[in-house]
Amino acid sequence: MSDYQTILLERRGRVGIITLNRPKALNALNSELMREVVSVVEELDADTGIGAILITGSERAFAAGADIKEMQPKSYMDVYLDDFFAAWDRLASARTPLIAAVSGYALGGGCELAMLCDVLIASDTAVFGQPEIKLGVIPGIGGSQRLTRAVGKAKAMEMCLTGRNMKVEEAERAGLVSRIVPVADLLDDAIATATTIAEMSLPVAMMAKEAVNRSFESSLREGVLFERRVFHSTFATEDQKEGMSAFIEKRTPNFQHR
Ligand code: CAA
Repeated sequence: MSDYQTILLERRGRVGIITLNRPKALNALNSELMREVVSVVEELDADTGIGAILITGSERAFAAGADIKEMQPKSYMDVYLDDFFAAWDRLASARTPLIAAVSGYALGGGCELAMLCDVLIASDTAVFGQPEIKLGVIPGIGGSQRLTRAVGKAKAMEMCLTGRNMKVEEAERAGLVSRIVPVADLLDDAIATATTIAEMSLPVAMMAKEAVNRSFESSLREGVLFERRVFHSTFATEDQKEGMSAFIEKRTPNFQHR
């Protein structure tokens, strides 16, 4: 299975499954877990045999945040010189689609890790929040930015200022979550979604992800132009010919990821 201390890694067909595995600490994100998750995501991302990466936790907790016991004694110089948490930014550079399957607590860094993923599927027990203010800090893995983009200023501001959590129904209504599924079905459902994505043409899925993400970084006009240029470039793939031929021939496409 895996040689890691804080995660489990499984490859199921074209899907890489990373399970956060610090049950006694509700999967709190310590430095070792950060190193392991980031390095495994980069390894899977570089492997063209993998078409989707699923990140999940336990039923009780996706992750209850950064590890407070590890952080408590750190000084400003410790966190500044280490550029503490900067390694998480590397997940945002992954080109392979990332899917988060969230059950239970997704708080602080746990919510931020879920928001670093491209598709967020949640169980009916999921709870999201940025409670850092209650510890005398603020979000540090992008929560103030990604939560605001996902749910808008009013909810994000209230959550970051009061530390109140959001149950999954509210999270879905607000646009943070793609879909809610019963907790017993979460993993199967998320694996099925990841498998669907992984069976699409990998380069085209990468292009689709890049185009959607561009909407956060550009004006509408520039984003639409970017999309059209990337759309044009899908015609350079063999999979465009295969996908369209399969439709015309009334058969399932057999993408070669080229
Ligand atoms: N860091 C370290 N340990 C944690 C942890 C965390 N973020 N969250 C939970 N744990 C540990 C607890 O200390 C406890 O360990 P012990 O048994 O050794 O005492 C164990 O996990 C179980 O937790 P609880 O007994 O507290 O479980 P509960 O069911 O009573 O409560 C909870 C669950 C509401 C999630 C509660 O654990 C909690 O509030 N956790 C902290 C949530 C939080 O503040 N997260 C933000 C962290 S800061 C951050 O993430 C910064 C950033 O932006 C990156």
